Amino acid sequence: MPAAGGVPRVGDNAFERWATLIRERTGVEIPRQRHSFLATGLARRMRATGVNDSEAYYQWLSRGPGAGLEWNALVDQLTVQETRFYRDPRGLALLRRYCREHTRGDAGALQVLSAGCATGEEAYTLALVLEEAVGGGRGYAVTGTDISLGALALARRGEYPATRLWRLPRALRDDGVEPAGEGRWRIVERIRRRVCFVQMNLLRDDPVTLPPLDVVYCQNVLIYFARRQRERLVRRLAEWLRPGGVVILGGGEFPPTSLAGLQRVGGEDVLAFSREAS
Ligand SMILES: C[S@@+](CC[C@H](N)C(=O)[O-])C[C@H]1O[C@@H](n2cnc3c(N)ncnc32)[C@H](O)[C@@H]1O
Repeated sequence: MPAAGGVPRVGDNAFERWATLIRERTGVEIPRQRHSFLATGLARRMRATGVNDSEAYYQWLSRGPGAGLEWNALVDQLTVQETRFYRDPRGLALLRRYCREHTRGDAGALQVLSAGCATGEEAYTLALVLEEAVGGGRGYAVTGTDISLGALALARRGEYPATRLWRLPRALRDDGVEPAGEGRWRIVERIRRRVCFVQMNLLRDDPVTLPPLDVVYCQNVLIYFARRQRERLVRRLAEWLRPGGVVILGGGEFPPTSLAGLQRVGGEDVLAFSREAS
């Protein structure tokens, strides 16, 4: 598969091999229609690393020791990090409801995970909603996780152009962001202190350092996964909950079937499961 015109030719067999490697390691499915997306991502990384034979690049990534950093860089190319502040008002309404029902608790601060948080907009949105709901009382902590180190670096900066903020309701904007110069806005320190970002592959890693979670918020991640991986992932997310905690998914990302040990909650307009008390 020599590189031609800057983009390696990826034949059917090679496409299958790459798609399998990516699916097995990340869960992300690259369908055949996205062939050129894969080829372009490979080309970028091959150019950046000076490897001009895609077979050699494959061998390096699939076996080579020390390929971890390059694997991270390729994953950055092959994952979709599109995100927005205040993306799903229905999921956030369920979060508010959960907070109202759990204003007091002897378990300390509410622990919330933004799973597949991309560049941080979702994690900060959750923090802004939680600040309003429980900030003066029980308190809260948000952990944003993603497989992409590049996305997490931007998330940690917590600075965004003004154009990205328009969906945030006025009250949350007034409370949560401040000007950072040159048309950019920064999440205020009070909110940033409540949020941390950690690299995590949702299929493989466990949040061992986190206490049992009240809420796992995972939206627009499952859609990139092979269908058979979706149920497995929802089950994993639910295992990280404390009894009574909820997984809030994006609508339509997962067939709203019943899952043993999990109870469908939140009504028709939102897809969420609660872990039954054991
Ligand atoms: C489209 S973004 C969704 C961002 C945010 N949740 C939202 O709804 O706005 C999908 C994110 O999932 C991340 N992702 C994909 N596979 C992953 C995996 N196996 N583990 C962790 N994150 C993953 C990608 O890097 C990307 O940032």
